[in-house]
Amino acid sequence: MNSQPLGIFDSGVGGLTVVKAVRDLLPHESIVYLGDTARLPYGSKSPETIRQFAEEDVRFLISRGVKAIVVACNTASAHALSALQANHNLPIIGVIEPGVDAALADPACQRVGIIATRGTIRSHAYQHALALRRPDLLILEQPAPLLAPLIEENWLDHPATIAALQTYLQPLLDRGMDTLLLACTHYPLLVPTLQKLLGPDIRLVDSATTCAQHLQTHLASLDLLAPAENTPTFDLFLTDLSEQFELLAARFLNSPPLQAKRVELS
Ligand code: DGL
Repeated sequence: MNSQPLGIFDSGVGGLTVVKAVRDLLPHESIVYLGDTARLPYGSKSPETIRQFAEEDVRFLISRGVKAIVVACNTASAHALSALQANHNLPIIGVIEPGVDAALADPACQRVGIIATRGTIRSHAYQHALALRRPDLLILEQPAPLLAPLIEENWLDHPATIAALQTYLQPLLDRGMDTLLLACTHYPLLVPTLQKLLGPDIRLVDSATTCAQHLQTHLASLDLLAPAENTPTFDLFLTDLSEQFELLAARFLNSPPLQAKRVELS
């Protein structure tokens, strides 16, 4: 048993969808969250820059005394996870394997569409992980670079967002997609809009819930779960503070307004 906090980071506030799933499943855990809002988006950056930013994010969380880290950003998981695991001596888990588990949970799944940032799609991390487990699967990758900024703007069902979604999804629909993998931690906020656009026959999956389950299994195997008597704390650190980010953070967590603290990374 270990009551030190968990560290969770993302390029911005999208990773709070993972925080929500972790809090639902592991309510006794304290959490330190870091959103690198000053350098958002990661999705358009080069792999080298993403690795450097992710390394700085991890060092900050370690300086806060965390016992394990979740890379709650698909772009950073795709490009930096193995380097982070090699560089640091604490459990670090990403969102790609959990996302793959979520997609393959239904054995009837035959044609998976993946929407993500350009960086995640360019890495082909999901494609490789899915093909390894299900070589028969048709995998359709679609970069969707406008979605994260539209979500940051809270344009969840704005005509501009619907137009962008229609443009991104049409090629996947033309190829008979039966499952849509939301491979960016921002995208769960679009689920109601996506459900309206796609109807009930296309399954929507994201990695937040399965990521929390992976984390639980991993912590349990290392005897690192917090004891039931732990009073959990939640610390929200952002590298750039604005009212917009605090409002967004509350929306991602489905919680009352939050007080974030500004931090500088080095
Ligand atoms: N949350 C990031 C991800 O999951 C997307 C936002 C960004 O481009 O930084 O990839």
